[in-house]
Amino acid sequence: MNILIKNSYIYSEFDSNKKTEKLLKDISIKNGKIDQILDTGNFNEGDFSKVIDAKGNLVTPPFIDPHIHLDKILINEVVRENVTGTLKEAIEIIWEKKKNYDLEDIRERAGRIIREAISHGTLYMRTHVDIDTIGGLKPLEGVLLAKEDYKDIFHLEIVAFPQEGIIKDPGCEELMYKAMEMGADIVGGMPASENCPEDSLKHVQIVFDIAEKFNCPIDMHVDETDDPFFRTLEMTADEIVSRNFQPSVTAGHTCALASYDKKYAEYVMDKVKKTGINMITNPVTNLMLQGRFDDYPKRRGLTRVKELVNLGVNVAFGQDCIKDTFYPLGRADMLEVGNILCHAAHMSLPHEILEVFDMPLFKSSKLLGLDNYGIKEGGAADLVIIDTDNPIEALRLNSDRLFVIKDGVVLASTKTEKKMYL
Ligand code: FE2
Repeated sequence: MNILIKNSYIYSEFDSNKKTEKLLKDISIKNGKIDQILDTGNFNEGDFSKVIDAKGNLVTPPFIDPHIHLDKILINEVVRENVTGTLKEAIEIIWEKKKNYDLEDIRERAGRIIREAISHGTLYMRTHVDIDTIGGLKPLEGVLLAKEDYKDIFHLEIVAFPQEGIIKDPGCEELMYKAMEMGADIVGGMPASENCPEDSLKHVQIVFDIAEKFNCPIDMHVDETDDPFFRTLEMTADEIVSRNFQPSVTAGHTCALASYDKKYAEYVMDKVKKTGINMITNPVTNLMLQGRFDDYPKRRGLTRVKELVNLGVNVAFGQDCIKDTFYPLGRADMLEVGNILCHAAHMSLPHEILEVFDMPLFKSSKLLGLDNYGIKEGGAADLVIIDTDNPIEALRLNSDRLFVIKDGVVLASTKTEKKMYL
């Protein structure tokens, strides 16, 4: 089937040194690949079996959610309420559920959110799955089933995530190796969850040992706390240097970085920059969880997004949680999370908002190390048509994803109808 997408405003990564020119293009698709991209009006529409008129709207590559927990999403439907609203109680409630996990339940909940993400234009995702001695490898097994269900249309990367710690959960280290053998792609971690800094360092070292054995990236939950006592981001940077570790390393959350005094924060961010660590902020969860017990003024809980961006660090954001004991809302929509990030990180100037718009696109692509990402001749016909010609308006209005296209096939289509009676 040959498809023509005409009048496309193909969005490319924001570059403050370049003036953005809005030139409309027509995209021809053959056998699931982008065949040619020409200035609009240069194809004969009669040569195509289907013509989609983008009407000058934004056409982007698919969105990427680089940080979510598919084993735990929607778990509020099947567990008791988090009465205190704390991270501690959220984890305890999950313990109760993890003891009796049902594979089909995990597969169904993960599948539901994958479908919702697709409807919002997300075709790439990196999920953490709990690996510990409470639930064993069941979360991984359930998410692997969901991955298989959608393997032809959805790129899903799995991080083995020792949420209960490694040192303080004897048996977890062995499970982590098994998880990698079973099909996890990336080694996760949560060093701040150990009982003391010495154990946190051991945790980091074990994570690097596993990643070296499997020659794979690392993506850890780092210092997800307001408490400036926790300094595992620096440990992570130092470990990269001491081992000359080459695969990519990503640090998620890093909330404590926002609580450090300025001098230490700058010292650590400099190490982050020098070691090339990717940073992921998870604004919705951390706005909800962090700063909860502060007297006024309350901290926002996010890492130092603007400072990291200004330093040239690759920063992205994730949905993290949806309707679970940590966070009760969310709908797997990267434009929605991006809108919230603009508020939470004071990203209000046009170039700052464009930086946020690029995070679930080009910044996350870099983080995942995707080789063939982007709209180009010869590339996969994976693209999203958004109901606006302006990326800032897309974030402001949470514009409809008019068409979500994978390998030249329309997977989802949304056009909201509003009626006014005045
Ligand atoms: Fe997370």
